[in-house]
Amino acid sequence: MKIPRRQSRKVTMTLLVGIVIWTIGTMLNTLKICVLNDRQEPFSHAKIREREERHIRCNQGEKHNIVFIKCMKCATETMATILRRFGYTRKLNFVLPVKKNLYLGWPYLMEDGDYRVTKKEFNILMEHSIFTPSLMSKLMPNNTVYISIIRDPWENFKSVFSYFGLGRIADVPEGQGQIIDYLRNILKYEEIYTSPEKNQLRLCIPDNFSMTRNLMSHCLGMPLGFPASRDNITGNMSAVNEYIMMLDSQFLHILIADYFVESLVLLKRLMCWSFKDILYHQSNVASYPFKYLVPKGDYYDIHRNWSHVDYLLFDHFNKTFWNKVAKEGPDFGEEVQVFRLTQMLVERFCFVEQNWNSPSVYLTIPRSRFNEAFNVSEEDCRLLNVYLLPSLWQQYFEQEGLTPENLPPVEQRPKPHKGCSIN
Ligand SMILES: *[C@@H]1O[C@H](CO)[C@@H](O)[C@H](O)[C@H]1NC(C)=O
Ligand SMILES: *[C@@H]1O[C@H](CO)[C@@H](O)[C@H](O)[C@H]1NC(C)=O
Ligand SMILES: *[C@@H]1O[C@H](CO)[C@@H](O)[C@H](O)[C@H]1NC(C)=O
Ligand SMILES: *[C@@H]1O[C@H](CO)[C@@H](O)[C@H](O)[C@H]1NC(C)=O
Ligand SMILES: *[C@@H]1O[C@H](CO)[C@@H](O)[C@H](O)[C@H]1NC(C)=O
Ligand SMILES: *[C@@H]1O[C@H](CO)[C@@H](O)[C@H](O)[C@H]1NC(C)=O
Ligand SMILES: *[C@@H]1O[C@H](CO)[C@@H](O)[C@H](O)[C@H]1NC(C)=O
Repeated sequence: MKIPRRQSRKVTMTLLVGIVIWTIGTMLNTLKICVLNDRQEPFSHAKIREREERHIRCNQGEKHNIVFIKCMKCATETMATILRRFGYTRKLNFVLPVKKNLYLGWPYLMEDGDYRVTKKEFNILMEHSIFTPSLMSKLMPNNTVYISIIRDPWENFKSVFSYFGLGRIADVPEGQGQIIDYLRNILKYEEIYTSPEKNQLRLCIPDNFSMTRNLMSHCLGMPLGFPASRDNITGNMSAVNEYIMMLDSQFLHILIADYFVESLVLLKRLMCWSFKDILYHQSNVASYPFKYLVPKGDYYDIHRNWSHVDYLLFDHFNKTFWNKVAKEGPDFGEEVQVFRLTQMLVERFCFVEQNWNSPSVYLTIPRSRFNEAFNVSEEDCRLLNVYLLPSLWQQYFEQEGLTPENLPPVEQRPKPHKGCSIN
């Protein structure tokens, strides 16, 4: 369907006016908070200076040795674009999959043959992998920080169900109630979905691997019986709790996708990064008929039961997340607001005004208590929106002094979505 030009212009205008009003509202709000705060602390310039500096310059310097555990459908691709851009612009050394693979062994534990060797020290491991501490601690420098992101398991389930076409692959009758039907007959449909007969339709998901049962815990390395050679602690609550406590001590930060902006701002503080580092352009946002299916009723109980380890995992890290936020003090909320505003201005500059094609145009974000002033150029806009893995491969070959073995052209955006390889 074609929208008439005039109408489309009208829609754009309405959108712009809306954005402007919202921007002014947010600015006033931010201003109000700043004024209030300064009133509480009059004349103490040294104190204000010290407080300001704390969020702009960290003592330790920015952290850049990172393992990021990337699971499916938890805003991980959005996070991944942040990390790839961070490393690419600093020419850091990435742990990259071999051949044209997109995954570092996922959904199996990571092994030596899964990554390209390097002459230099590795800095960032962030493509799809299962948390494998025995290998990762050998591979990465000893000051590496571990981060990951999880999401409300119900939201994760709906998103996985839609994205990976579970209903279609498991032959569930189509329609509004497809996802509910799947849950009410979970054993039957899981068997069909995970069977060797459906292997081709599932693309890179191996036989016997469940995408609906404790997926996030599996990605974080918990032994849940896949592959068959691994332990299965699904039914042992004390072992599950022990594992969660181990993750708690090993990971610097587990972001919560349901509170994405708050999670990013906490990441910025913990890593000594800047606002520019955590800017993002949302990717992979899909809409599907059951997106807003509410967590209640028998089907929700079935899911809670079926995937109970993920619910425990999520409840633990959602709780520790908000505890950490509380410890950051009241200016955390202000920083979130200032970042939201920054993010919105950049989003408008890059993708509403479409400045990614306009050299010499740039946007200046002013200094605040939480960031130095910085410019956003068309190149920055491009980097927010481009799939960087091919460029990282290119950079790897240059840095290692090798010739690329027929890699995909850098500018072409491949469609890796459901496979583990670009071809
Ligand atoms: C970490 O690695 C650095 C350099 O590789 C080394 O000098 C340092 O002793 C190591 N620290 C620990 C605690 O192992
Ligand atoms: C899947 O499970 C079946 C039955 O438990 C087993 O016979 C088969 O070897 C498994 N396949 C894989 C690839 O693990
Ligand atoms: C793991 O154990 C649970 C029971 O505790 C069982 O239902 C499940 O099928 C097992 N998972 C695998 C992959 O074998
Ligand atoms: C459950 O896990 C705990 C802690 O790892 C272990 O000591 C216990 O033997 C396990 N229980 C069973 C029945 O395997
Ligand atoms: C939850 O699981 C338990 C045992 O695994 C079972 O007895 C119970 O009926 C299940 N409840 C639902 C709502 O599926
Ligand atoms: C996460 O924790 C907060 C604070 O305890 C709570 O209000 C919220 O409902 C939790 N979120 C989810 C999705 O469970
Ligand atoms: C932004 O770019 C302009 C033009 O190159 C330059 O004059 C200005 O100093 C830059 N501002 C910042 C904060 O880098």
